[in-house]
Amino acid sequence: MIVKVKEPLSAEYPYLRPDLVVFTYLHLASSIELAEALMRSGVTALAYETVQRADGSLPLLAPMSEVAGKLATQVGAHCLEAQSGGRGVLMGGVPGVPPAEVVVLGCGSVGTNAAKVAVGMGASVTMLDINHDRLKYLDDMMSGRVVTVYSNSRNIERAVRYADLLIGAVLVRAARAPSLVTKAMVEKMKPGAVIVDVAIDQGGCVETIRATSHSEPTYVEYGVVHYAVPNMPALTPRTSTLALTNATLPYVEALANQGLDAALAADPALAWGLNTRGGEIVHPVVKAAFA
Ligand SMILES: NC(=O)c1ccc[n+]([C@@H]2O[C@H](COP(=O)([O-])OP(=O)(O)OC[C@H]3O[C@@H](n4cnc5c(N)ncnc54)[C@H](O)[C@@H]3O)[C@@H](O)[C@H]2O)c1
Repeated sequence: MIVKVKEPLSAEYPYLRPDLVVFTYLHLASSIELAEALMRSGVTALAYETVQRADGSLPLLAPMSEVAGKLATQVGAHCLEAQSGGRGVLMGGVPGVPPAEVVVLGCGSVGTNAAKVAVGMGASVTMLDINHDRLKYLDDMMSGRVVTVYSNSRNIERAVRYADLLIGAVLVRAARAPSLVTKAMVEKMKPGAVIVDVAIDQGGCVETIRATSHSEPTYVEYGVVHYAVPNMPALTPRTSTLALTNATLPYVEALANQGLDAALAADPALAWGLNTRGGEIVHPVVKAAFA
């Protein structure tokens, strides 16, 4: 068994083989090349991000989402500085000058953590989601310090237009992220506004987004600074490694001690992690994404 963090790189494809278990983040729905490599090799691949408990929670995605969410606001605040090409707006404002308008699209682990940091910095925060229960929970939990808005194209368009910082944090389980912020919406954003699309590892939820890297993290399109690094937690490896391995270790121990089949049979949450086996994609939602 190989335990990794990121998906197998193309240089690693020749090492994949039928009697090997790979346990790592895969994000298969956004990479047909990787899906084909896994199927060709016959490897058994378990994806952290599809391990799912009965209540729908994703225990192995959550720790990295918490890190990436908090980083999204931190990075976004930096991108808003004039030196970085941003509007030159201070997140918290000062007495007599309004704070930055932060819009968070998707209110799961990433979105909630991004909002917590933005509220802490004194920004004005709007959060959008299609999940009513989640909006209700956040409204209570944040004690009115954020504005919650139901997510539809009209409300997204309005919010995006006044945003200084837009954080993309949408996830449709095991599927490619929906392109909710269109090119036309980006064109209408304020000059020097910033987009941090954390959902880039699932393809991104902004039409004008493309993946960037830690060495060249941003580009400007339509006067808007775009940031879309797929592995944001690598910015803070000391925090991220401990957060991830705290969560993965019990599953690694179960696989190692019980063997693959017994471990999958004993724990339905882990069984949801199974993505490919014997040359087939076996996860129903991942399979549907390719269909
Ligand atoms: N770039 C990185 O380094 C990095 C790190 C961690 C996670 N991520 C990614 O961030 C994304 C979010 O992860 P998460 O853990 O917060 O997921 P999550 O499941 O906790 O939350 C996703 C939220 O999106 C909402 N949503 C779905 N469709 C929507 C729509 N049309 N409009 C508004 N909201 C909608 C869901 O209701 C849910 O509340 C994922 O793609 C994840 O892979 C990226």
